[in-house]
Order: sequence, then structure tokens, then C-alpha cells
Amino acid sequence: MSGIAVVPGSFDPVTLGHIDIISRGAKVFDHIIVSVLNNQHKQPLFSVEERIELLQTATKHLPNVEVDSFDGLLIDYVKNKKATSIIKGLRAVSDFEYELQMAAINRKLDDSIETIFMMTNNQYSYLSSSIVKEVAKYHAPLDDLVPNNVEVALKKKFAK
Ligand code: PNS
Repeated sequence: MSGIAVVPGSFDPVTLGHIDIISRGAKVFDHIIVSVLNNQHKQPLFSVEERIELLQTATKHLPNVEVDSFDGLLIDYVKNKKATSIIKGLRAVSDFEYELQMAAINRKLDDSIETIFMMTNNQYSYLSSSIVKEVAKYHAPLDDLVPNNVEVALKKKFAK
């Protein structure tokens, strides 16, 4: 597959599960834009700027990956960036219903943009940003859950 794909998400913070999907996306598309949703209604742990910086450091080994942010409708952002596809990771059956709904509404809004699902590596099937924050909050080990720079940032946020 060629062209540009957007990997959207909250990334609060980015996990190794996200990095797995981004790296695999970067192998099949010419260019990947990882874009952080700037959601005014959510109270995130990390600001959009912090999340962008964490993503930039964690993906710096991938030359065809850039990091950005967006607000408003994802489909408008994707068109604006001249991307052809949206990449989403699927962890378990529990993700399926919500992702099906999102893909369907996005297709209704613009059927020229394709949503492509990648099955998360089994190793990360239990992993989510919420779980990672919970683990960090109780000062439990974060090995194999998040990139090193994110581990450092989480430890700082939850320093005793
Ligand atoms: O990491 P998340 O929180 O599961 O990511 C969800 C995200 C950012 C992909 C989704 O909330 C989104 O696309 N939001 C933008 C608004 C939008 O386009 N909604 C769908 C049509 S109503």
C-alpha cells in the first residue's frame, strides 16, 4: 500500500501496543501521521504537547512517521492531510463494536477514506493507556508496557 495513513488516538500516554501498530503501519504506507485528539471534554493525564513529545521520542527510529494533533472530525483532518486511510488497532472482541461504529460513520461521511484494522500483537492484547496509568499510579513496574521515555514521564507524574 502506498500513500499517507493517519493513526488517530488519545495516546494518554502512548503504549507499546500503539508503537506496535504504528511500526507495522509504517511498513505498509509511505508516510504515517500519528495524530493526538485534542479533546476539550476529557481531563487527560498528559497535555496534548506532552503527548506529542512522548510520541515523537518513542517513534524517532521510524523515519516515515510524523506526529501531529487534531480537533474536530477525524475525517476532515484526514482529507486535509491528503491521507487515504485511517489505521486502527484491534485488541479484542470488546474493541470491535465501537470500532465498527466509528468506521461506519467515517465511511458514511466520506467513502473515499478507508479504515484499516490491524490486530494487536497478542503480547499487548491486555494493554491500554488506562491500565498503564493505573499501574503507574500504584508504583508497580511498567516494563514491557510503555516505551522508556513514557515510563520516565509516568514516574514523574506519580512521584510520591
Ligand atoms: O485512543 P482513542 O481514545 O480510542 O481514540 C479515539 C479517536 C480519537 C480515534 C476518536 O475519538 C475520534 O476519531 N474522534 C474525533 C471525532 C470524530 O471524528 N468522531 C467520529 C465521527 S462522529
